[in-house]
Amino acid sequence: MTSDAVERLVSDLTLEEKVQLTHGAADTDGTSTGFVPGVERLGVPGVRFTDGPLGVRTDEPATAFPASMALAASFDPDLAREFGEALGREAKARDQDVLLGPGLNLVRVPHCGRNFEYFSEDPVVTGRFAAGVVEGIESEDVVATPKHFVANNQETARASVSAEVDERVLRELYLPGFRDAVDAGAGAVMSSYNRVNGTYMSEHERLLGAVLKDEWGFDGMVMSDWFGTESVVDAASGGLDLQMPGISAEDLFESMGMPADEFDPGGFDYADGMPDPRTGGLFRERLADAVEAGEVPESRLDDMVARYLTQLERHGLLGERGASGANGEGGGDGREGAIDTPEHRDLAERIAVRGTVLLENDGVLPLADDADVAVIGPNVEEAILGGGGSSETTPFTETSPVEGVEARAGGDVSVARGIPRIEDVSLFDGFGPDDADDEDDSPDVSIDDAVAAAEDVDVAVVFVRDQATEAADRETLALPGEQDELVEAVAAANDRTVVVLNTSGPVEMPWREDLAAVLASWYPGQAHGDAAATVLYGDSDPGGRLPVTFAPEGEYPANTERRFPGVDGEVHYEEGLLVGYRHFDATDADATYPFGHGRSYATFEYSDAEAVDDATVEVTVENTGDRAGREVVQAYVDSPDATDELERPPRELGGFVALSLDPGESRRVAVDLDERAFGRYDESDGWTVDAGEHVVSLGRSARDLRLDVSIDR
Ligand code: BGC
Repeated sequence: MTSDAVERLVSDLTLEEKVQLTHGAADTDGTSTGFVPGVERLGVPGVRFTDGPLGVRTDEPATAFPASMALAASFDPDLAREFGEALGREAKARDQDVLLGPGLNLVRVPHCGRNFEYFSEDPVVTGRFAAGVVEGIESEDVVATPKHFVANNQETARASVSAEVDERVLRELYLPGFRDAVDAGAGAVMSSYNRVNGTYMSEHERLLGAVLKDEWGFDGMVMSDWFGTESVVDAASGGLDLQMPGISAEDLFESMGMPADEFDPGGFDYADGMPDPRTGGLFRERLADAVEAGEVPESRLDDMVARYLTQLERHGLLGERGASGANGEGGGDGREGAIDTPEHRDLAERIAVRGTVLLENDGVLPLADDADVAVIGPNVEEAILGGGGSSETTPFTETSPVEGVEARAGGDVSVARGIPRIEDVSLFDGFGPDDADDEDDSPDVSIDDAVAAAEDVDVAVVFVRDQATEAADRETLALPGEQDELVEAVAAANDRTVVVLNTSGPVEMPWREDLAAVLASWYPGQAHGDAAATVLYGDSDPGGRLPVTFAPEGEYPANTERRFPGVDGEVHYEEGLLVGYRHFDATDADATYPFGHGRSYATFEYSDAEAVDDATVEVTVENTGDRAGREVVQAYVDSPDATDELERPPRELGGFVALSLDPGESRRVAVDLDERAFGRYDESDGWTVDAGEHVVSLGRSARDLRLDVSIDR
């Protein structure tokens, strides 16, 4: 609801001033990703917007947290809230008011270049993590911006492709995470570049207006993605409230001190992942005229501005602070924040540890303190911070795998790269993995050296990585470079070989059966080495579970060109509801590692499952091992068959609980089940729960179900 103060402000603003609050401008101090100048005479401050999901991205360092996928792999939404709070504090310390995250698009295809910025292939996991991060950010009085709304599930042609998707599929898979983020109090939502069923999301009246704002009651602002506004009248009428960055790329370059004549629009490949940067200034150039001509009602302009001002008011940004100047002169807004604190460093490490998934272990892990270890891999002398693009964060400090293991090991540590370094890829220096392998800064390495190092030690640990970036999808799930050859050669030389995957998601693992253990630790951020050592030596249980299914490339459901990356500008979501584990369960296809999978150094038993009401089940979990361990109890709901047009997934995750148990300890836990797991979305009746028996299976993964409980609805 609009407050009296905001209503008064809107009526005091001139047309020109109102339009000024609907788009960004050049940042006066050049620190932010986006900037909206204020209106000094009325106490409206200049507002700064910063990327992004993995850390605060200004021109200065910040804590580089693990990838969102690593956070989700913890299956611990409390950790998400803690992370959100830390992001909020770091944003304030850098005088930023709006955080451009969390990213929460569903992982529909494993190739998507931004999956590392997203949470999961499952909407309940996505929603709980999105809500946790949003609550945390907002609790620090920083505006959270869930993105990219909606069906931005690939980077190929992201600026133009139309996701052709059924209403029921949108409602059951792609929208719930956004709904949960909105319910958690997000002050903004970022529209995506793509079209949905033919209409650009920045002008999608039904999804932005009827669904997000009217049905869900979202009273915040919808901002465009950067250069993702296609029109003035359609966008404003469709529900877009704020055009970002609000100026053309030419002007943006100039504001950053780069000569405008170096701007070359022809240098961008618009068709393949990048939006047209010339459209950045549409609202600034034409919105006032459109209002004066009656093409956009002035009441709509007032609504745009009121939504924006309501968020400033709610976050304590109006009034006194506004009086400090429309451009935030004086270097900063004086709000207290915190950056690179010991707590934030510790949190970055804790997330990396908890998000590490032990995929496979024949007993080689945890490592003995005095084991002689070879640390092998092309990138072992650096921390893998993230993928390329707008989420790139520069840390104050980082530990590489070599540093982490050397600091922890009691035995000898030898190091071998084995093959040339696998380069980072980034939209900032190219548009895709093709540019990746040009640079070879390690010409004197050889697989033979790695084999020699492996032969002499108790255990060989090989760190491998993929290459992923915003604006391009991975062309293959195979590891880049000669990493497979390296792993195979090392595994042949030492049968106690462990592989650590530092990847954006699933990769092909042709050597899997020759290994003693495999860990997935995603992009672990600045604490890479310390977190890896903590898990390898068993100082902490690897707490993670897979938020995405690992399977051979051809087994995923989007396996035709129509489905991914699309044909004739359209990508057809023909797999319907059968995304991720829903597909593997429905078709009984083989997953390499199923959704929810993750081993522990402890062992667990489940007993005495019962339903305590029609949306909660309880179960007793006992740690039957001899080490402390972390368990994630998962509850999957199988609902009665309805006469559905779309094939209903056999089971859907309804809820989960993560807990730590000492050896011999047992605890009774309650798992709250999401109402949507019982229901289906009916186009005429909305969410509908079919009457009958719903079977809730409790287990350790989608394919390791231990106990069933019946709930009659
Ligand atoms: C990305 C957004 C990001 C924005 C600003 C776009 O390319 O899609 O996620 O927030 O740039 O950097």
